[in-house]
Amino acid sequence: MGHPRINKAAKDAIDRYGTGTHGVRTLAGSLDLHTELEETIAEFKKAEEAVTFSSGYATNLTVISTLLGRGDYVISDKLNHASIVDGCLMSGAKFLRFRHNDMQDLEDRLKSIPSGSTVLVIADSVFSMDGDLNRFPKSG
Ligand SMILES: Cc1ncc(COP(=O)(O)O)c(C=O)c1O
Repeated sequence: MGHPRINKAAKDAIDRYGTGTHGVRTLAGSLDLHTELEETIAEFKKAEEAVTFSSGYATNLTVISTLLGRGDYVISDKLNHASIVDGCLMSGAKFLRFRHNDMQDLEDRLKSIPSGSTVLVIADSVFSMDGDLNRFPKSG
C-alpha cells in the first residue's frame, strides 16, 4: 500500500516532526513544512503566494465564502463537487447554476445578472463524477 518513496518520506517526517502540531494552524501554528509546501506551490504556479488547507472541502468552503457575500452572485456548473455547492450556499451570494459545460447557458445566466454586480463563475477543473474537464478558456 502506498508508494515506497512516499511511505519512507512519511516515516522520516514523523521522526523529525512527531505527529504534527495537534491543532489547527491558526491556533497551533505552522511548521516549516507548511511554509515549504506553500512556497513550492507558489513557485510552480508562478504566483506570489499560495495557501494550503487540510482538505478540498475546507478549501472550497473557505475560499468561496470569503470571496463572496450577500448581494453578490455565483454561477456554478451543475456537476460541481458538493463542497463547491456548499461554499456557494454558505457565502450568502445568490446562487445560479448552468448546464454542465454549456458555455451558451452560462452566457445566458451571466446576461441575467444586474450590471455592476460582483459575480463569480465557478467550475471544477476535473469533474469528479465523469473525469471530464471544464470548457473555460485556458489562461497562461
Ligand atoms: C472535485 C473535488 N473537489 C473537492 C473534493 C473534496 O476534497 P476532500 O475529500 O479533500 O475534502 C473532492 C473529493 O473527492 C473532489 O473530487
